[in-house]
Amino acid sequence: MEATQETKTPFSLAGKVAIVTGAARGIGRAIAEAFVEADVSHVVCADVLADALAEIEEGEQISTSVLDVADEAGWQSLVKATIEAHGKIDILINNAGVLTFGGIESTELADFQHVMNVNVQGVFLGMRTVVPHMKANRRGVIINTSSSSGFLGTNFVGVYSASKFAVRGLTRSAAMELGLHGIRVNSIHPGGVDTLMTNPLGEDFGALDRKMSWTPMQRYSRPMEVARGFVYLASDAASYCNGAELQIDGGMTAGVYFPGLPGSPENP
Ligand SMILES: NC(=O)c1ccc[n+]([C@@H]2O[C@H](COP(=O)([O-])OP(=O)(O)OC[C@H]3O[C@@H](n4cnc5c(N)ncnc54)[C@H](O)[C@@H]3O)[C@@H](O)[C@H]2O)c1
Repeated sequence: MEATQETKTPFSLAGKVAIVTGAARGIGRAIAEAFVEADVSHVVCADVLADALAEIEEGEQISTSVLDVADEAGWQSLVKATIEAHGKIDILINNAGVLTFGGIESTELADFQHVMNVNVQGVFLGMRTVVPHMKANRRGVIINTSSSSGFLGTNFVGVYSASKFAVRGLTRSAAMELGLHGIRVNSIHPGGVDTLMTNPLGEDFGALDRKMSWTPMQRYSRPMEVARGFVYLASDAASYCNGAELQIDGGMTAGVYFPGLPGSPENP
């Protein structure tokens, strides 16, 4: 496994090359910013949204690449180009995702397939394409973005929830196989995060937070609160974390309140 270098803080990403998918906006963009803050050598922001990527100022530490994570040829081009430009890939963040609403009866097959293609096939292809290079280097870190929906069934969000449970299964299985080769694979499970995915109308925090009154922290999180967890797991500070599931959800998945008993939102 990765040795902690005494010359720098173990939370530093100095000398590391990373790919972050879904990085044109939201949590992925915050991850890229947090990686730069942690002195990453270079981070490639990959996303299907070319226009949004064009707004990111490229430089020595950051570049952009148009990628549909469900497209295998696209992954092969990205990995080849990253290795040609930067020599290696130390960190892969499979963060791109899509959300669909609908009940079991009302969800169209095409919507089911789109969610699975992006949220599950995208994670699978990312790992499958990058892992041979990490294996050759005998080191690497992969973090897959699941969700609190990877732990909880939810009305009208069943397909998304199924995709995020699948990400857990892929992550744990990869951790079993790849830990043997010095590669750590973990998942992060955000709860409610204020991004375009969950807040497409741009509601203010007050309105948003009222929708979280059933959760312990009683509020949404900001993308950077989630992104810093990625820095930790990507860094040598997490050198023994493999197959871990880090919930950054304000306690949303910790349990269920018993109505009427003290210690609940109604009777704190
Ligand atoms: N926002 C939340 O409350 C929340 C909670 C739990 C988990 N998540 C997960 O966090 C991740 C990021 O979501 P977000 O909240 O930043 O949402 P977002 O919609 O702001 O960002 C998602 C990004 O993924 C990109 N993307 C979608 N399909 C793609 C594809 N085929 N190829 C490449 N990129 C693609 C989008 O263009 C977008 O930039 C997702 O996996 C999401 O499921 C979000």
